[in-house]
Amino acid sequence: MKKTALIYSSLTGNTKKIGDAIFEIIPGDKSIYSIEEAKELSFEEYDRIIVGFWVDKGHADSRVKKLINRLKNKEIAFFGTLGAEPDSDHGRKVYTKVSELCSKNNNLIGGFLSLGKVSDKLVEMMKKFPLNLIHPLTPERKARIEKASTHPDENDLNDAKNYFISILN
Ligand SMILES: Cc1cc2nc3c(=O)[nH]c(=O)nc-3n(C[C@H](O)[C@H](O)[C@H](O)COP(=O)(O)O)c2cc1C
Repeated sequence: MKKTALIYSSLTGNTKKIGDAIFEIIPGDKSIYSIEEAKELSFEEYDRIIVGFWVDKGHADSRVKKLINRLKNKEIAFFGTLGAEPDSDHGRKVYTKVSELCSKNNNLIGGFLSLGKVSDKLVEMMKKFPLNLIHPLTPERKARIEKASTHPDENDLNDAKNYFISILN
């Protein structure tokens, strides 16, 4: 039976919610760590690593990127939350980039993305800088943020669980 570690990085709780749901259905010997707790760990004793990230500038957040770069010859899977639809150009690009990073030195078995509420603080910042060229609060972006505001919801948690049940056995 495989020994699995799940490590998640979450600023406002979305990614943690998905991580807690996935953790419930992992078979066998398992541990869960926040990215802060994982800093000191070598992961030698684990065959399988599941990493969870929030999306920052179109990629996994920097702490998770660093963690993935430390791993070698593991079975690896990822999950992430983002403000954009997973099934959008942006979401697909994130999926591809994280897949490539995970596959560099490890055996990638799958990845799952979910919508995640964008923090009120970030939305307020976008409002204050309407001329900001990187993240202007256009009507389209506003609609996307509203759509994301109730996620991850129960359906997302169930989708995450079912996806991981299908890849972990
Ligand atoms: C600084 C910052 C940058 C972000 N960049 C992106 C991005 O490039 N694409 C995206 O879809 N969402 C982006 N988001 C939204 C978050 O990825 C999303 O809200 C996520 O669910 C937050 O997860 P958490 O609650 O686990 O921290 C960004 C959020 C912040 C705060």
